[in-house]
Amino acid sequence: MGYGRKHAELYDVVFADRGKDWAAEAAAVTEEVRRRNPGAASLLDVACGTGAHLAAFAEHFAHVEGVEPAAAMREVAEERLPGLVVHPHDMRAVSAGREFDAVTCMFFAITYMPTPDDLATAVAAMARHLAPGGVLVVEPWWFEDRFIDGYVGGHLVKQEGRVIARLTRSVREGDRVRMTIRFVVADANGVDEFTETEVVSLFTEDDYHRAFALAGLVGEYLAGWCGGTGLFVAQRPR
Ligand SMILES: C[S@@+](CC[C@H](N)C(=O)[O-])C[C@H]1O[C@@H](n2cnc3c(N)ncnc32)[C@H](O)[C@@H]1O
Repeated sequence: MGYGRKHAELYDVVFADRGKDWAAEAAAVTEEVRRRNPGAASLLDVACGTGAHLAAFAEHFAHVEGVEPAAAMREVAEERLPGLVVHPHDMRAVSAGREFDAVTCMFFAITYMPTPDDLATAVAAMARHLAPGGVLVVEPWWFEDRFIDGYVGGHLVKQEGRVIARLTRSVREGDRVRMTIRFVVADANGVDEFTETEVVSLFTEDDYHRAFALAGLVGEYLAGWCGGTGLFVAQRPR
C-alpha cells in the first residue's frame, strides 16, 4: 500500500493548496446525514487518511472514530486529534465494536477495492456499523464514462523555503486505473524525489447500488456533489 510517511506529511499541504476544503465537505455531509437522521450524534470515518474530515466532523458530532490501515496516515490523524480512536483495519474488515449514527468513506477511498465483490464486502462491513436509521455516505471516483485514459495532472506548492511538485499520470488497465504519483520536494537541504503507485477501480453506478442492496440499504446518488464525482447516501431502516 502507498501513503508512506513522506506522502502522509505532504498530503494535506498539497490538497489544501489545490483548494480541497475538508471542513466545508464535512459540513455538507453532516447536512445530508441530519436531513435523514436528525439526532445523529456519532460518526465513523472509514479510510480517514490524515483525519482532516474527522477534525471537522468532531465539531458536528459528539463522538467520532476513524479507520485507516496506512500507519503513516493514521499517525497524522492521531496527532491532529489527540485521544482519537483510529482503527487500523482494511475497510472490508472494519470492526469498531459499536454502531454509529453515520459512517462515511470519502474522497474515492472506496475505489481502492479491487473488484465489485470487494466493494460489496466493504459496503457490508460499513453497513454493519450503522445504528437503526444510520446513514452511510460514500464518495466515489469518476465512473468509467468520465475517466480520461492517460490523464496527466500536476500541482506546484510554493512555501517559504520549500517547493513541492506533485505530478500524476493515470492509465487504464481493464476496469482499474494505475495512478503514478511523483513528488519532488526542494528546500534548503536539497531536492528529494519519490514515487508512489496507486491502483484504483472504475466502478459503475450500478456496482455501488448493487453493493448497497446486498447490504440491505437503498442508496441514492447525488450527482455533481462537491468535486464533481457525486456522493452516494444510503440509510439503514429504523
Ligand atoms: C485519497 S485518500 C482519502 C483520505 C481521506 N478520506 C480524505 O478525504 O482525505 C485514500 C485513503 O484510503 C486508504 N485506503 C486505501 N486502501 C484501503 C483499504 N483497503 N481499506 C481502508 N482504507 C484504505 C488510504 O490509506 C488513504 O488514506
